[in-house]
Amino acid sequence: MPNIKRDLAFADDFITAELVEDVQDYAVEDAVVVNLSPRPMITGTDHPAIVPAWKSTVLKGGVIAKAERVALIKVRRVKNLGGAPLRGWDWLGNRIRSFPRDTPLYISAFDHCGEVTTDPFVFTNERSTDQTPQVFDMRLNLWWSPSDTDCFIHNEHPFLEVHTQIHGVGRMQKFRENDEATLYEDIPLSEGATHDPFCRVTGENQWTYPWHRYYADTDCVWLAIELHPKG
Ligand SMILES: [Fe+2]
Repeated sequence: MPNIKRDLAFADDFITAELVEDVQDYAVEDAVVVNLSPRPMITGTDHPAIVPAWKSTVLKGGVIAKAERVALIKVRRVKNLGGAPLRGWDWLGNRIRSFPRDTPLYISAFDHCGEVTTDPFVFTNERSTDQTPQVFDMRLNLWWSPSDTDCFIHNEHPFLEVHTQIHGVGRMQKFRENDEATLYEDIPLSEGATHDPFCRVTGENQWTYPWHRYYADTDCVWLAIELHPKG
């Protein structure tokens, strides 16, 4: 049976968020569509197009012809959207003691959405075909910040990550050092955009990230996609 769907853990009255698996000829009224799969997603009917692995698009009355697993996410209520912390989202400072005490960055519930098998070198685009596939647990969450928020420079993650812009306009920025004056790359993210992976694989379950941060130019909701090594 194709098109098995359920709500994601962070779906609420303000944000529709669905996971659909084994997707075939699935009509999308209006949503950011994220390809949560190491294989291509095919959109369209008369003129099919390919959305590569771990990339995204916005469909408005469009069709997903075929995909392994997708997230469909849309902010449907803007009024009081910034009340995210009042409806269960957690301030990151509650989880990380060293997080700046003045930074309004809030995290939704996590959704554990299954396993994915991929070669980490293929995920990072350092290799084009699987040579050392391994199993990861995929975890999704949303982030919320108001406009002009510096979401903290960091360079460590025990997982592979990318982000998709869901609402507003933000940037993924890279730095030579833990200092915003050393910026060397500034990737704009408008609604529906996913940045390319930017970690490098350095060994088994080992990767390095440059110093990086998300910067919210406007009020922003964005999706984190994390692949955690299994076991
Ligand atoms: Fe990060």
